Amino acid sequence: MPRGLFITLEGLDGSGKTTQIKRLTSWMQQRSLDPVVTRQPGGTVTGDRIRALLLDSASTPLAPMTEMALMFADRAQAVAEIIEPALAAGRIVLCDRFTDSTEAYQGGGRQLGSELVLNLHQLICGNLQPDLTLLLLPSLQASLTRARRRNERHAAETGQDENRFEQEQGEFFRRVWEKYREIALREPQRVVLIEGNLSVDEVHDQIVEAVSERFVTVQHHG
Ligand code: TYD
Repeated sequence: MPRGLFITLEGLDGSGKTTQIKRLTSWMQQRSLDPVVTRQPGGTVTGDRIRALLLDSASTPLAPMTEMALMFADRAQAVAEIIEPALAAGRIVLCDRFTDSTEAYQGGGRQLGSELVLNLHQLICGNLQPDLTLLLLPSLQASLTRARRRNERHAAETGQDENRFEQEQGEFFRRVWEKYREIALREPQRVVLIEGNLSVDEVHDQIVEAVSERFVTVQHHG
């Protein structure tokens, strides 16, 4: 059984990731590729509990190290429970955020630095790396406006407050944005950078193009 394909989506809050994952999932389903779709933090029972702890405004202030450790605790569970078994079974895994998020948010945003995050990744996730990372990086301003609007809507609809990260100041998000860019420039083979303020359709087309390129081999196996 050939190993599956591990694809991650990354970007700031409000970068349009969620919409694009849905579009990509249906694109794959129409081609009978049947991906396993998951997200971080969350995606497992344990992970959803960790997620609640991380995103609830009431849990402020978490020390940056606590935050990073919880992100990796969540990830370790997702790798063991979902990602590795699916890849071993030859499935495609679509994961909404992975270690690049930790490098960008905790390494960049919280200023813990890349080295710490990459070392922890190695320790906890070993050599597991995405085969392809789609990084949506519209302008900082566009992302922030969208994230704020979405969060207000979510809070009004559900009474749940997940805005701990959105409450951060512009400087925090600037550091996250810059770290993401740095990752893309450092690993151009793995990371496809989708920049600019593009329409949903334009972003989808770029994603499909990038995914199709990596796919040729997988499709031949099928
Ligand atoms: P989520 O609601 O999933 O945001 P989005 O839909 O924008 O992906 O919230 C995840 C939040 O957690 C987001 O603000 C980024 C943050 N995060 C980190 O800070 N570090 C991490 O390692 C991960 C996976 C997420």
